[in-house]
Amino acid sequence: MQFQFDYTIDFLLAVWLNLTMFTIQIPATYGAEAVVKRELDRLGYIGSRAINGRVVFNGDYDAIARTNMFLRSGERVLMVLAQFNAQTFNQVYDNVYNINWSDYLTVDCRILTYAKSVNSQLFAIKSLCSIVKKAIVDKLTAQYHSALNESGARAMIEISINNDYATLTLDTSGDGLYKRGYRTLAYSAPLKETLAASLIDLSFYHPDKHFADVFCGSGTLPIEVALRALNIASGLNRQFDYCNFKFIDKQYYNNALTEAKDRQNLDRKVCISGYDISQQAISISRYHAKNAGVDKYIHFQVADARSFSSHNSYGVLISNPPYGQRLGNMAEVKRLYADFGTMYRSLPNWNCYVLTSYEEFERQFGRKADKKRKLYNGNIACTYYTYQSDKPAHKGQ
Ligand SMILES: C[S@@+](CC[C@H](N)C(=O)[O-])C[C@H]1O[C@@H](n2cnc3c(N)ncnc32)[C@H](O)[C@@H]1O
Repeated sequence: MQFQFDYTIDFLLAVWLNLTMFTIQIPATYGAEAVVKRELDRLGYIGSRAINGRVVFNGDYDAIARTNMFLRSGERVLMVLAQFNAQTFNQVYDNVYNINWSDYLTVDCRILTYAKSVNSQLFAIKSLCSIVKKAIVDKLTAQYHSALNESGARAMIEISINNDYATLTLDTSGDGLYKRGYRTLAYSAPLKETLAASLIDLSFYHPDKHFADVFCGSGTLPIEVALRALNIASGLNRQFDYCNFKFIDKQYYNNALTEAKDRQNLDRKVCISGYDISQQAISISRYHAKNAGVDKYIHFQVADARSFSSHNSYGVLISNPPYGQRLGNMAEVKRLYADFGTMYRSLPNWNCYVLTSYEEFERQFGRKADKKRKLYNGNIACTYYTYQSDKPAHKGQ
């Protein structure tokens, strides 16, 4: 006879040890779910699953603190409070009301509700937000025997309905995890830090290799490469909403912070460069790198991508050139892509990765990609083109 288990060994072990375990969801950029899963594996959370743009696993408060601190590609860390069938508003109200809200929220908590609905009978987002909020406020008012004043820390609660099945989550991150805190100025069309981290992970960049971004804009890719190479946690310089939740002991954040400081490897030798044709972009990049504490590890320089050359073997070039969609003129962009391809073919032994929404990219670049992956940059559908150097890989490649 065969038994089917829905729970991982970790989960059963934790229940046996009487620890608090629950489901955690990490929303991921479309196309980057596998990267988040790999990051969770590296943090020791094996056995996560990708479902509807989210990576799901069982964890505890320590996992909440560590994923917020260390994940580079995940968008936020959501704690699942309930899951239920949701065909009517009454079902939503009752199931939300049934949660023991005073376990999670204080009487002064500022409650913000969000909703998503896909393929479901309930699709009125505003109404869903109102019903969820009303059920929470009614329950808390009854539990605290007092009206709520909502003057305290925020709690972001989301109902996500998929095929009439609802998942209710509490957002433990607050501001999205892409907000590392270093990027305070904008230069045209920057990549989200989480997407930049995914591009780096997908390139299998190794700190022993040279890295260059020849269209660096506000510096996101070189800075994310430096943070990764030096093992600087992406959440080191920010706070998370869970730090204000009374039911999560402050010690979890403190432990994650200590672990983050212990893991840093600031003596590592790295070779990271960022170039852009715009002086303003380079000034902004330098400013952001300083904010991130990695300015002394990155060489930024005003330069035309077409003139990039390197005598170093075994480098990785990752760039997000102008698309012609949001920036620049299409004829110019086509010429730029052709010249970029010519420049790349002159490099001794570099791998090259390019994110663009331009569908004819390979033709302009002059070479078919070895690999392609669909990714979204905001709401722009893009392709991530991989070019591997022709020479055989050596150790560390
Ligand atoms: C899409 S933006 C890059 C955004 C960047 N990844 C970020 O996160 O901020 C493209 C950049 O290419 C730069 N650029 C355009 N033509 C260039 C050229 N010929 N050489 C170098 N940079 C160029 C623009 O100034 C712009 O900063």
